[in-house]
Parts: sequence; C-alpha cells; structure tokens
Amino acid sequence: MKQLLTLMLILFPASLLLMSQTGPAQGKLKESIDRGNMVYIQRCLSCHLINGTGISGVNPSLVHNKTALGATEPLVNIIVKGMPAGTEIDGVRYNNAMAPAPDMTDLQIADVLTYVRNGFGNNAKMITEAEVKSARAKLK
Ligand code: HEC
Repeated sequence: MKQLLTLMLILFPASLLLMSQTGPAQGKLKESIDRGNMVYIQRCLSCHLINGTGISGVNPSLVHNKTALGATEPLVNIIVKGMPAGTEIDGVRYNNAMAPAPDMTDLQIADVLTYVRNGFGNNAKMITEAEVKSARAKLK
C-alpha cells in the first residue's frame, strides 16, 4: 500500500507535467509562435535583427527587454502607434524611431508579441488576439 502511494505521488506530478507540455494550450502557443516568427521576419527583423539583439543606440534589444516582457497595453500601443526617437532604455538613448504599424491585424500583433516573449531566451505569457483587440480599443 505504501509503495503504491509512493508510486502515485511520483506519477501524478509527472502526468501533470506531460499534460502541460502537450495539452491544447501548449499547441496554441506553438502555433502562435510559428505564425509570429513569420510576422517578425517581415515586420521587425530589419531593425531588431534575427536574434532580437538590435543595435545599441539605434534599435533596442528585445532580449530580456522589460517592456517586451511586460503588460500588453503598452506593447500594443508601441506596435500600432510606433515610438518616437530619443527614448532612453537601460541607460542608452535610442536615436532611431519605430515606425507605426496600424495596418497589422490583432492576430498578427498577438502572434509577433508572443513570438518575441518566447524567443531570444525570453519567457513570458502568451498574448492572445482577444487581448490585443481590447488593448487596441483603449488606444487614443
Ligand atoms: C524601423 C525600425 C523598427 C522596426 C521595423 C520595428 N522596431 Fe521596434 N523599435 C525600434 C526603435 C528605434 C525603438 C526605440 C524607439 C525610441 O527610441 O523610442 C523600438 C522599440 C521597440 C520596443 C520597446 C522597447 C523598450 O524597451 O521600450 C518593442 C517592444 C519593439 N520595438 C518591438 C518591435 C516589434 C515586435 C516589431 C515588429 C512588429 C518592431 N519593433 C519593429 C525600431 C523598429
């Protein structure tokens, strides 16, 4: 009996771990990252570069970037409205401006942000199309 209990105590967390890695939520995350990868190549790579490092003083790095890993609303604002030149990020002033991209769909924005938040050694919660939609509705 005691052995059975021990076995269950080992197997139960193991099965939870397995489910968390292969469940439907994980499938959605992977699909979003894959689509976001394509969006990134088309819309972000030219400035933030293939591995997200950017160029110090010109285009900021997205690796462990606080804003990129932070709240959804400011991120949606940056993508849709762009960002004027001259912001200081981690003690470095960026003299290039980020162009606005109001033509991007809610899904494209969600996917590219999810890609950035889970690529380049980053690890942050995925952003859904619905979250982008509601954040976008609040933009002035
Ligand atoms: C034309 C070049 C360019 C493109 C294309 C571009 N960015 Fe940027 N991005 C910048 C610059 C420059 C800044 C910083 C602007 C400043 O100085 O205020 C920035 C800022 C950011 C920030 C905020 C960083 C911080 O610490 O505040 C994020 C996040 C970001 N970009 C993500 C993206 C994503 C995702 C895409 C693609 C959808 C993208 N950028 C496309 C040039 C670009």
